[in-house]
Amino acid sequence: MAEKRIVLRNCGVVDPQDIESYLKAGGFKAYEKARRMKPRAIVEEVKRSGLTGRGGAGFSCGLKWEMALNARGGQKYLICNADEGEVGAFKDKYILSRDPFGLIEGMLIAGLAIGAPQAYIYLRNEYHSLNSLLGSAIEQARAKGYLKETDIQLFEGAGAYVCGEESALMNSIEGQRGESRYKPPYPAARGLWNMPTIINNVETLMNVPHIINKGAGWFSDMGTGRSKGTRVFSVSGDVSRPGVYELEMGSPLKELVVDLAGAGEIKAIQIGGASGNIIPGYMTDTPLSHETFLGSGAVVVFNPTRDIIDIVYSDMRFLNEESCGKCTPCREGTEVMLEILGRLKQGEGRDRDVNTLEELARVMAAASLCGLGQAAAVPVLDSLRYFYNEYIDRIGQSHFLRSYLGGELTKSKEGIR
Ligand SMILES: Cc1cc2nc3c(=O)[nH]c(=O)nc-3n(C[C@H](O)[C@H](O)[C@H](O)COP(=O)(O)O)c2cc1C
Repeated sequence: MAEKRIVLRNCGVVDPQDIESYLKAGGFKAYEKARRMKPRAIVEEVKRSGLTGRGGAGFSCGLKWEMALNARGGQKYLICNADEGEVGAFKDKYILSRDPFGLIEGMLIAGLAIGAPQAYIYLRNEYHSLNSLLGSAIEQARAKGYLKETDIQLFEGAGAYVCGEESALMNSIEGQRGESRYKPPYPAARGLWNMPTIINNVETLMNVPHIINKGAGWFSDMGTGRSKGTRVFSVSGDVSRPGVYELEMGSPLKELVVDLAGAGEIKAIQIGGASGNIIPGYMTDTPLSHETFLGSGAVVVFNPTRDIIDIVYSDMRFLNEESCGKCTPCREGTEVMLEILGRLKQGEGRDRDVNTLEELARVMAAASLCGLGQAAAVPVLDSLRYFYNEYIDRIGQSHFLRSYLGGELTKSKEGIR
């Protein structure tokens, strides 16, 4: 099965350092068209296309824009979320480094739609090497006069995963601690400096010029009921051809990991990063869509030599380290989960550990302030669902080790006596 390259169409084709190359490939035609449209007509077109956010939550892009367009008073802001801190995610980096003008065009159309005179690209600190390329692309677009309605500024983060979460990201731009905010109010109503703000992922915005050029109907003809268009994935782990691939929404997971990325025997696949779903290798017929699994587009493949509890432990170590600590369920929940998983990993599991993990998962999902804590238990619950025996084996081993070592100790004590 071949890829369907829409978002990635210009990657490797245009010169990311030269705006003339992008213009020759038909660049900024969608922006010119959008300038002749009323903001509401742009929003309607994007709404009808069914474009959903590619940053994880999958919310309707058009609906979000409509909220910002309707929001009253004050300056409006647009932010492109290029934080991409999710484990195993590198598709935004691929896009940013190969088609920065495509992103700028998408941002300018979004700026016209919601009426934002100021936009930011929030670039993760670890992508500092892209700073000058993006800065030069912005300057070239400015020199051509494209930034008159919406100016674009580059903002580099300080290296915190939680700052990819939209409200923590806004705190970071404002110079405050990178912690999530209580919601509502949502950013479209009160965001950056309490003004209506739209935050969209890189890939979401990359789709916009194509929708304006080719129409909502063309876009919504691709994909499934709730998942329109294509999706860009970064695939890594136990595969022979790791990389970035774009497929139509609804394509089976097998096409991505086996046909394109070259996976052999698969034990498990994690989709969506450290807090993403973990599914067994026999489920590769599952279609990739919002209705099943998608998340941030990070896909990591594990072969049969991998240990599931080790994988989940590593996920939790990352989430625990990156929890901002503002809310108790996430701060304490990831701590206790890490402790239990560490115990299981060491062969020191206890009978009640599985129940405690399940109870913690329920509380964290219901009571955490943001998606970090809410989703932290997803890999734990999935691994319990699909790889339950591995947990039971570990607890069984612990019993064996305890009774064996306990017995040895008793014997040696007796020996001393
Ligand atoms: C802990 C955490 C990290 C996140 N990191 C990112 C990220 O790096 N990039 C991103 O686009 N969205 C990220 N998100 C999702 C954003 O909060 C937000 O939903 C997204 O930027 C909205 O854009 P979209 O509607 O285009 O998907 C993260 C969410 C959470 C909870």
